[in-house]
Amino acid sequence: MNTAIESQPKLKPLQGHRIGLFGRGGCGKSTTTVFLAHALAHAGYPVCVLDADSTNEGLARALGADRAPDSLLEWLGGTVFSGGPVTCPVDDPVPLSGARVSLKDLPPRFFSRASNGSLVFQAGKIAPLGPGAGCDGPMTKIARDFALAGRECETVTLVDFKAGIEDASRGVITSLDWLVVVIDPSHAGVQAAIAMKKLLEQMQSGFMPATQHLKSPDLVKLTEDSYRHAKTKGAVYVLNKVPDAETEHQLGQRLVHAGIQPVASMREDRDLRTAWLNGDPLVSASVSAEVAKIVQALEEGSLRVSGAH
Ligand SMILES: Nc1ncnc2c1ncn2[C@@H]1O[C@H](COP(=O)(O)OP(=O)(O)O)[C@@H](O)[C@H]1O
Ligand SMILES: [Mg+2]
Repeated sequence: MNTAIESQPKLKPLQGHRIGLFGRGGCGKSTTTVFLAHALAHAGYPVCVLDADSTNEGLARALGADRAPDSLLEWLGGTVFSGGPVTCPVDDPVPLSGARVSLKDLPPRFFSRASNGSLVFQAGKIAPLGPGAGCDGPMTKIARDFALAGRECETVTLVDFKAGIEDASRGVITSLDWLVVVIDPSHAGVQAAIAMKKLLEQMQSGFMPATQHLKSPDLVKLTEDSYRHAKTKGAVYVLNKVPDAETEHQLGQRLVHAGIQPVASMREDRDLRTAWLNGDPLVSASVSAEVAKIVQALEEGSLRVSGAH
């Protein structure tokens, strides 16, 4: 028996993974991000959360952090539109220099700590950029490329995206291991989930993104390679804001037609609405219990993909 190998600490299935949260505006991406961060930390994972929603505030406080961190956009030197180095991934697919961050190199104002000990980062917000610089492509590139390096490289990174599929169609899914798609009981929620499923299926079946606008063959190759070598394992779908069993059933029926089988169903909980209103940390026993099922589905999916099961 090889005791040297046996005594090595075993990697957990999601260590080092990047997981992105998607769905229509207000469906509960940030709510799910918070509970997923808690569930992963509870399961023993080191966790970091990247607030990649350039249009929304409040995630750090919902995570129980004492303050919102300053933006990584500032740390990286600002957007190309206002004279900085951070470009839009659609015009310039080149990997973002400095996006793999070692905590020891980063001044403390660029991160904060959630109540569960997770690290909290922020890509950047549109509002402070002012008129004329209001394209958030550079924040999308940060979301696409940001990861912890060095001692923290085994951290699970949760990326809380802005609403809709714009970031996904800018190519962020190529650098995510998993997508978590949140669906609220609405036609728009269902349609957004179907659109994400289609984007993922297109990418996985070899569909290439638009590159007509790129002048250089090197940039075309870089873009196409990022799709060809995408690390994305798949998507899990979850319901949120479900008021009752009847609504859950109706929503499930619509999703079955689209080939979507949700792995968890988070109930509407008025304490969550109140916490978001007051800027308080989110607490909900029923939602926590459901979110544990998301962790389980992601772990099982990862083990399946890696062929261990
Ligand atoms: N399970 C839930 N129960 C009750 N209200 C919820 C729930 N999830 C989200 N909400 C409400 O919906 C709003 C939007 O949720 P949020 O997580 O910020 O969505 P997103 O990040 O997708 O825009 C919150 O401010 C809160 O009021
Ligand atoms: Mg949000």
